[in-house]
Amino acid sequence: MTKRILVLPGDGIGPEIVDEAVKVLDVLVGEFELDIEMDEGLIGGAAYDAAGHPFPDSTREMALEADAILLGAVGGPQYDNLDRPLRPERGLLAIRSALGLFANLRPAILYPQLASASSLKPEVVAGLDILIVRELTGSIYFGQPRGIQVNDKGEREGFNTMRYAESEIERIGRVAFDAAMQRNKKVCSVDKANVLETSELWREVMERVAKDYPDVELSHMYVDNAAMQLVRAPKQFDVIVTENMFGDILSDQASMLTGSIGMLPSASLNSSKQGLYEPSHGSAPDIAGLGIANPLATILSAAMMLRYSLERADLADKIESAVSVVLDQGLRTRDIMEPGMTEVSTSQMGDALVAALRATIQ
Ligand code: IPM
Ligand code: MG
Repeated sequence: MTKRILVLPGDGIGPEIVDEAVKVLDVLVGEFELDIEMDEGLIGGAAYDAAGHPFPDSTREMALEADAILLGAVGGPQYDNLDRPLRPERGLLAIRSALGLFANLRPAILYPQLASASSLKPEVVAGLDILIVRELTGSIYFGQPRGIQVNDKGEREGFNTMRYAESEIERIGRVAFDAAMQRNKKVCSVDKANVLETSELWREVMERVAKDYPDVELSHMYVDNAAMQLVRAPKQFDVIVTENMFGDILSDQASMLTGSIGMLPSASLNSSKQGLYEPSHGSAPDIAGLGIANPLATILSAAMMLRYSLERADLADKIESAVSVVLDQGLRTRDIMEPGMTEVSTSQMGDALVAALRATIQ
């Protein structure tokens, strides 16, 4: 049956990188019997400009009906002074929430060709393959009450609420343990249980979930230590599971181990396998329109979409191999450029990837 894909380019470099991923999907449709239909919609600042809201009803309707969503990025300095509910980031949070996309998978894999692009010594990162499982629809990002108010001393104070129900912790725990079963069977749960009650409960529930996975080794780590261990000895990790905000921070950190955040895809899934796929990086307004953004994170996000929502793991494998081929060819966008390599533009990188895919047909 034809699967419906909603494409949401968004802001900044979003449209440029999404174009390249769509180019790749078009080739898969034309030459590898991929049965999809793609529609385009508005989100973030682009949606605010066109429709007055970062997550318009029309986008919500299309998103609810889609089997999968491919998103570029949202945000830009021109929107910084809008009322908070109208800011582009709220569009992203709203779509995550509307679709119940509670499980955010952020793999940090080092392509061996990029070992020297990492800010860490090659021996510290060689062979790195971590999966960060970030809870995406709870905690301080969504907890009520929240706001800025005047306190009884007449001073303004801001407040947010970190809260987790047991069921929310349990379901993200199961995603992490299921993933670990397909990998090296290690889960490290990251929390701040020495300070936060939320984390105390988190730890307790993770212990309970672990009982159903006797083959998986569960460890716990405080988030400050985890931040340190990620740069000290990142290869000790297999699957990291953590709450929304810790996952936001640690996944940016982990991305740098791999050379560039421009290489990292992500998948956000709900319980019915519907998914939103986006690069882990942001809209990079400073380089928007220059044609230098790295489209590989978005193309690899499309690969995750094929694997998790479209039941075409065969095509996901092909894309991932094609990425290796173009890196072997020495092609690099500016973010991963090194002496002796050939610098290419966003669209040249996309074209090279398409050529590498086509070469697998013979
Ligand atoms: C991310 C981003 C978002 C987040 C922002 C843009 C709201 O940083 O996807 O990691 O904090 O979740
Ligand atoms: Mg982030």
